[in-house]
Amino acid sequence: MDKKKRVKITGTGFYVPDQILTNADLEKIIDTTDEWILTRSGIRERRIAREDQATSDLCIEAGRRALEDADLEPSEIDAVIVATNSPDTMFPATACYVQSGLGANHAPAFDLIAGCTGWIYGLIVAEGLICAGTARRVLVVGGEVLTKLTNWKDRGTCVLFGDAAGAAVVEESHDEAGILSHFWKADGSLAGLLHLPAGGTRRPATLQTVAERLHTIHMKGNEVYKHAVKRMGEASEEALKRAQVSKDRIDIFIPHQANSRIIEAVGERLEIDREKVYVNIDRYGNVSVACIPIALHELRQAKKLRPGTHVLLAAFGAGFTWGAVVYRW
Ligand code: UT7
Repeated sequence: MDKKKRVKITGTGFYVPDQILTNADLEKIIDTTDEWILTRSGIRERRIAREDQATSDLCIEAGRRALEDADLEPSEIDAVIVATNSPDTMFPATACYVQSGLGANHAPAFDLIAGCTGWIYGLIVAEGLICAGTARRVLVVGGEVLTKLTNWKDRGTCVLFGDAAGAAVVEESHDEAGILSHFWKADGSLAGLLHLPAGGTRRPATLQTVAERLHTIHMKGNEVYKHAVKRMGEASEEALKRAQVSKDRIDIFIPHQANSRIIEAVGERLEIDREKVYVNIDRYGNVSVACIPIALHELRQAKKLRPGTHVLLAAFGAGFTWGAVVYRW
C-alpha cells in the first residue's frame, strides 16, 4: 500500500488593521475596567478594522503575504479556503472575493464556517485535498472582522474580540516536515451557547431583530469556558496519541487564543511547561480563526520554528467545534 502523503506549510503571513482599541478606550464606552479585562481574559488591546474594510480585505493582504513567503504566484494556487465567522456577505463566499482579489485565477474557492476552529478545519481539509491528488497547493486563510458583529453594549462580549487575518500555503512535503496527525470533532447540540442568532433563514433580518441586536455575537461565556478547556485538552491528547508523539516532545503549544485563563488551564491539563505555550491574546484579543496562523508567522519571524520542532495546535469554538494538529516543522 502507498504511504500516505505528508503535507506541510510552505509560507505564512498575516495582516492586522492599524487602529488599536485599548482597555482604557473601552473604559470610556462601557462599564468595565482595564483590570477586569486583563485579569479575566488576558487582553490588553485589540485591532479594529476601518469602516471600509471587510473580512476579505484583511484576508487578501494576509494571503498575499503568505504567497510571497512561499515564493508562489497567485495563479499557482489550486484552492482557496477561507475560514471565517464574519463573512463579507451571506453569499457569495468571502473566499471568492479573496480569490479574485489575489488573482488566484486557477483556484476554486470556498468558505469554511467552523467557529474558532475554522482554520484548523481548513488545514485538515487542505491536507485531504492534497493527499487525494485534488490540489497541489492550497491557500488556507482565517480572517475575521468580529468587531462589526459585536454588541458594544454587552460588556461580557465586546471586550473580547478583535479583527485580523492569517494565512498559510499548504503543499505536499518531500521531507520529514509536516502534519503528523489531526483530530477534529463537533457537537451541534450546544450551538445555542455561542451564536449569532439572526440574519440567516432561521430568523431573517427584520426591524425587530435589529432592534434586539440579534445580528451580534451572543455567548454564555462561562459555559463556553468550561467546554473549551475540556475539549481542547481532549483533542490535543487524541492528536498526540495518533501521532505517537509524547507530550514532553512538544516544543511549542499554540492554543486558540480565547482567554489566557483557558490557555493556562489547557496547558496545565496537558502538563506542557508555561514557556512552551504561545500567547498573543494580550495584543490582538480573540481573533478567532486568525490567531493560529498569526502565531505561526510570529514564531517563524522569531526563529522559534526550526527543522524538527514539534508544534501542537488546538482550537475550540462555536458549533461547538474543536480540533488539534500535531506538526513537525
Ligand atoms: O473563542 C470562542 C470561544 N470563546 C471562549 O472560549 C470564551 C469563553 N469565556 C470566557 O472567556 C469568560 O467566560 C469571559 C471572559 C467571557 C467572562 O469571564 P468570567 O470569569 O466567566 O466572568 P462572568 O461572565 O462569570 O462574569 C463575572 C462578573 C459578572 O458580574 P456579577 O454577576 O458577578 O456581579 C459580570 O457581570 O463580571 C461581570 N462582567 C464584567 N465586569 C467588568 C462581565 N463582563 C465584564 C466586563 N467588565 N467587561
